[in-house]
Amino acid sequence: MKTIKDLDIKNKIILLRTDYNVPLKDSKVENDLRIRASLPTINYLLEHGAKRIFIITHLGRPEGKHDPKFDLTSVVNCLHKLLPDQKFIGHYPIPKTGDKFPDIPKEIKIAVLENLRFYPGEEANSSEFIQNIIEAIHADAFVQDGFAVVHRAHASTDAVKNYLPVYAGLLVEKEVSNLEKIIKNPEKPVLLIIGGAKVEDKQPLIDKFTKIADTILVGGKIAADGYKAKNPKIYVAEDFDENSKGQKLDIGPISTAKFTDHITDAKTIIWNGLLGYAEDPTYATASTIVAEMIGEKQDATTVVCGGDTTGFVENLMKDHPTLQYSLVSTGGGAALEFLLGKKLPGLVAIKE
Ligand code: 3PG
Repeated sequence: MKTIKDLDIKNKIILLRTDYNVPLKDSKVENDLRIRASLPTINYLLEHGAKRIFIITHLGRPEGKHDPKFDLTSVVNCLHKLLPDQKFIGHYPIPKTGDKFPDIPKEIKIAVLENLRFYPGEEANSSEFIQNIIEAIHADAFVQDGFAVVHRAHASTDAVKNYLPVYAGLLVEKEVSNLEKIIKNPEKPVLLIIGGAKVEDKQPLIDKFTKIADTILVGGKIAADGYKAKNPKIYVAEDFDENSKGQKLDIGPISTAKFTDHITDAKTIIWNGLLGYAEDPTYATASTIVAEMIGEKQDATTVVCGGDTTGFVENLMKDHPTLQYSLVSTGGGAALEFLLGKKLPGLVAIKE
């Protein structure tokens, strides 16, 4: 895969696609993982003399129309806090055909454009839409660092390849190399831990990993709802913590002990889905034990994926900064599709 390390960056104008589709609460960014994860690429481009970086991203699903709810103000403010030494501008309207981009003072190195999904051309994978941006800003190269959106065939993931050379940013490189190692060449024993609520979302992953993993452990609501294992590699949680109404809201101590035994031995661990109703600390016990144990393991490749699970782990890391994972994936759907071996348009564009 061509990455920014293969690109002569000096004095180049870079169009950088990030995925800043982050949860907002009271107009503030609630979880800044995706924004923080873009910093290594931004800093690398600046350190290697980029003339200017134009950042493009989407936020939410405004369906091609301007919607103040998905305005990028809070995202830009968050990015500004993370890059306090940079002067930058956000967020410019996307240029239309023939539009000239306003002059920007030389010392301003970063400009953020408006939410791509305010314009129908983005999701329609419109060549004209992305070409207008490229021409208006005089971009020399395109850097794809929005790993979480590479499973979409949109103008800023797919059509762009017809107009500019596409390079992977450092986040895309990190996500792909860790996830690829798991499906192609994992160190054994390989352990898949599955939790969460929707069995239809998890079954394809379980099916795929019956070929890759040595053990698959199933907890969460799926297990509480009586998931039936169809393969001897699969262990489904057998005891549960219940509330006064008899609802099974966390896996119990016998199951948790089984999970921790397997974590001790594993050399590759992939975890997707919380093991209980962890929004309530009473039922976050198993998820906390498992998250801490995986994060303390230094002798294994450890990958956490899926929005709820990564959010949970991120929160835990704030109180326990020594916890370390090989990858806390920023890509929910993209990571799952990658693990299932699907072709992702945004990655295909880089290879081309
Ligand atoms: C995500 O959050 O999974 C990505 O940003 C993609 O967003 P989408 O599902 O709205 O395309």
